[in-house]
Amino acid sequence: MAKDTSPGAGRGGKKSSGRGQRDLRVRVKTAKGRKLSSKLWLERQLNDPYVARAKREGYRGRAAYKILELDDKYRFLVPGARVVDLGCAPGGWCQVAVERVNALGEKSGKKAGRVIGVDLQEVDPIAGAEIHQLDFLEEGADDKVKDWLGGRADVVMSDMAAASSGHKGTDHLRIVALVEAAAQLAFDVLEPGGTFVAKVLAGGAESEMQAMLKRSFDKVANVKPPASRSDSSEKFVVAQGFRGRPDDAPTDDTGPGQGGGRDAEGSP
Ligand SMILES: C[S@@+](CC[C@H](N)C(=O)[O-])C[C@H]1O[C@@H](n2cnc3c(N)ncnc32)[C@H](O)[C@@H]1O
Repeated sequence: MAKDTSPGAGRGGKKSSGRGQRDLRVRVKTAKGRKLSSKLWLERQLNDPYVARAKREGYRGRAAYKILELDDKYRFLVPGARVVDLGCAPGGWCQVAVERVNALGEKSGKKAGRVIGVDLQEVDPIAGAEIHQLDFLEEGADDKVKDWLGGRADVVMSDMAAASSGHKGTDHLRIVALVEAAAQLAFDVLEPGGTFVAKVLAGGAESEMQAMLKRSFDKVANVKPPASRSDSSEKFVVAQGFRGRPDDAPTDDTGPGQGGGRDAEGSP
């Protein structure tokens, strides 16, 4: 059964008592020199139960709960899995992946996995993860990641997002470029049966991405996990059961990815 990852739940999936949590909305006064947008951002952070929960549970950000919720539903971060996490700063997704794939080998009797994180920004070390600072859109970036990986991956996940330009169309094209670059890496390195997870923004070009993924994966889902803010246009594509590059992938059910996803205790 999927764990309860709602904001009131503890790290082990148990509901916390809620004692010590504030029931009242925190309001931020407009200090001299503070812009209204900063006041609203601060107010939202202070009142966000996922922010509070991340603090309590030692995750580096509320984003951790997006991958937790996606994995609770689709079960791709299994012990032994080799994971590439693109756009990993400050590290919440890596923290979740390290725990779930058993990268530190702490779950006895289970295979130990591997987590490679990549970001433009420097990331404080995370035990069990190999972090690299890299612009994934620069020439040859994918070859560098392939070198670090030194073989195949079971999961390629991308939460990459460019800083907002303030122009919706430009932001959308930027995120499409990031998703496409992530998908190209996934096509090159995924093991048959593997999973690709990526953040997309609602609007236009994501349907082409879906169509391309459907040629390469057994199942493609479009999801907005509860931890993703309702006022954000982000959503996630979860593609499972990799069959091969879109042009080479077998279209019948005889391909290597036949059968699709693995269960939580399955291979690797
Ligand atoms: C929403 S944050 C990721 C949060 C992360 N999943 C976590 O749990 O902490 C998006 C990240 O994408 C990174 N990013 C954006 N463009 C990138 C690029 N071209 N190459 C590598 N990382 C990039 C940003 O630096 C930023 O840290």
